Amino acid sequence: MTNNQKLNRWVKEWAEWCQADKVYWCDGSEEENQRLLSEMVASGMGVKLDEKKRPGSYYFQSDPSDVARVENRTFICSKTQEEAGPTNNWADPVEMRATMRKLYKGCMKGRTMYVIPFSMGPLGSNIAEIGVEISDSPYVVVNMGIMTRMGKKVLDVLGDGDFVPCIHSVGAPLQPGQKDVKWPCAPIESKYITHFPETKEIWSFGSGYGGNALLGKKCLALRIASVMAKENGWLAEHMLILGITNPKGEKKYIAAAFPSACGKTNLAMLIPSIPGWKVETVGDDIAWMKFGAGGRLYAINPEAGFFGVAPFTSMDTNPNAMLSCRANTIFTNVGLTPDGDVWWEGIGYDMPEGTINWKGKIHDPKSEEPCAHPNSRFTAPACQCPAIDKNWEDPVGVPISAILFGGRRPTTVPLVIEAANWNNGVFMGSIVGSEVTAAAIGLKAGVRRDPFAMLPFCGYNMGDYFAHWISIGKKAGADLPKIFFVNWFRKENGKFLWPGYGENSRVLAYIFDRCNGEGETVDTAIGKVPAPTAINIDGLRDMSVEKMEKVLKVDNNEWKDEVALIDQHYAIFGNHLPVELTEELAGLKKKLGI
Ligand code: GTP
Ligand code: SPV
Ligand code: MN
Repeated sequence: MTNNQKLNRWVKEWAEWCQADKVYWCDGSEEENQRLLSEMVASGMGVKLDEKKRPGSYYFQSDPSDVARVENRTFICSKTQEEAGPTNNWADPVEMRATMRKLYKGCMKGRTMYVIPFSMGPLGSNIAEIGVEISDSPYVVVNMGIMTRMGKKVLDVLGDGDFVPCIHSVGAPLQPGQKDVKWPCAPIESKYITHFPETKEIWSFGSGYGGNALLGKKCLALRIASVMAKENGWLAEHMLILGITNPKGEKKYIAAAFPSACGKTNLAMLIPSIPGWKVETVGDDIAWMKFGAGGRLYAINPEAGFFGVAPFTSMDTNPNAMLSCRANTIFTNVGLTPDGDVWWEGIGYDMPEGTINWKGKIHDPKSEEPCAHPNSRFTAPACQCPAIDKNWEDPVGVPISAILFGGRRPTTVPLVIEAANWNNGVFMGSIVGSEVTAAAIGLKAGVRRDPFAMLPFCGYNMGDYFAHWISIGKKAGADLPKIFFVNWFRKENGKFLWPGYGENSRVLAYIFDRCNGEGETVDTAIGKVPAPTAINIDGLRDMSVEKMEKVLKVDNNEWKDEVALIDQHYAIFGNHLPVELTEELAGLKKKLGI
C-alpha cells in the first residue's frame, strides 16, 4: 500500500476482479529479486545457470506458442477507428473493455498479483514517465527489474502523482491443487495486447513474452508515449542512440531506427574496425527526443536494460553484447548446455554435445531446426555494457546530430543516402521497407513497409504521425539533425554485399564527416550517395572499388518499381498523408522521369 489513493484503489479493484490469491508490492530490492528467481527455479519454471560460467543468471523456455510479439492481437482502442489509422488493429474501447474484463475475471486464481512500480527514464527526471504494472508473472517482475528502474524508489518519487496503469495477466488461472506449467499463457485467440490512448492505459492478457508482457517497453515507451509525444511536441521512437568520437576527439550522437531484429543492438554497441574511432552506447531500442538547448533535439534512453536478440551474437559480431550478458542475465528460448551455460546459433563455437534446445529436447546437431529460437533473447542490465556512454543516464539527454533510417533490403536501397533536408528525410523514414523477421509471430515472408520502424509501435494514425514529424521540422529556431537512409543488407547471389557489424563504423565515419560538411558525395535521383572512394575501405578483405559501386548503386529502374510500391503504400493514408510527403514523392518521380 502507498499514500497514493488512486493507486491503492486501482490495485484493490483489480486484485478483487482477478481474484488473486495474494497481492505483493515489489520493492525492487536484490533480496526480492533473488527470492523470486529461487521460487521460479523451485517451481521448475526457470533454471539457474552455472555460477562460474554465468554468475547470477537464469534460463527460461517459453511455451512454443508464446515466442514473440503478436501483431494481429495488438490493438489501439482510440474512440474512432480513424484515430488508430489504417496500419493499426482497432477495436471500440467500450467493447474491448467488456471483452477483456470477462477474460480478467478470476484470471489470477491460485496466483500472486505483483504490483510493479516502474520509471521509464532516469528516476525523478522531469522527462521520465512512471507506470505501474500489475502482473501475475514473477518472470515479468524480474525482467522489469532489469529493463526499468523498478520498486519502492519509484513510489517515493510518484507520491500522489499520476501514473500509467498497466494490467497484465498470463491468462492461466490455477484450480486448487492444480500444478502449474513451466510457462503459463493463453491460446493465441485469447491473447490481447491493448492500448487506450485517450486514457493512457495498457491492458495485456494471455502472453508472457517480452514485448507483450513487459509493458514499460513497446506498450508504454512507444505506443502510449508516441501519443504523448504528438500531444506535447516531442518524439518517441524505435531507435538506438550511440555516441561516436573521431580520431581528433570530437564527439557526436546519432539515433537510428531499424525494424525489429534489423541491427539496432548491434549498431549501438559497435566496435569500430577503423583506427582511432570510438562508439559508445546510450540505448539499443527506444529513444525519446525533445527540443533542448540551442534548438537541438536531445535524446534519452527510457530503458535500463537490453532485451536483445541472442542468435548470431558472438565475440566476433558484438563483443559488447556478449560482455553485457556475461552475468546477472535472464536468457529466454536459447539452448542450455550440459554444463549449465547457454548456447545459440552463431555464438562462435560448436554446440556442446547434449545441449537442450528451446523446446526442451536434446538437440540433434543434424536437425534442420535451430537449437535456439530465432527470436530468443537475453535480458541484461545496460550498466554491464563495457561501452556504455558516460551520459547514458543524463536526464537532459544527449544532443542528436544525425538520424538514420534503415531496414533489410536485399535490393534497391544503397548502403547510405543523405536526405536533402528535413522533409526529404521524413519522406525516407516514411518509406522504410524491410524483410520480416522472427520478432513477431505469423507475418508473411518478404519485404513489408515499416515506416520509421514504427509500424507495430505507433499508437495513433500513422498519417498523422508523418505530419507530426513534418511539424517537428517547422519548429522555430530548431537546429535539426541531418537524416540518412542506410542498408547493411543488400545482396548479390544470395550473399550480403556489405560485411556489416563493426565494419558499419566506416559508414558512421562518413556520416560523421558529412555532419561537418566534409566527405565527397554524388547526386542521384533519391539523394546524395558517397563518391565511390568516400567511404574508407582500407584493410577490408573482399572489398574493392567495383564492389563498392554495387553497394552504393542507385538503379533508376529499381527505383521506378519502388515508386509504384510507395504509391500503393501512401494510398492507404488518404487525407491523413501530409502534402509535404506527396510533394516529396512527386519530386522523386520527376527526377526518375516518371
Ligand atoms: P529488436 O531488439 O528486435 O528491436 O532488434 P534490433 O534492431 O536491436 O536487432 P539486432 O541488433 O539484435 O540484430 C538482429 C539480427 O540482425 C541479429 O541476428 C544480427 O546478427 C543481425 N545483424 C545485425 N547487424 C547486422 C549487420 O550489420 N549485417 C548483417 N548481415 N546482419 C546484422
Ligand atoms: C522488438 O520486437 O522490436 C523488440 C523485442 O525489441 S520486444 O520487446 O519483444 O518487442
Ligand atoms: Mn525493438
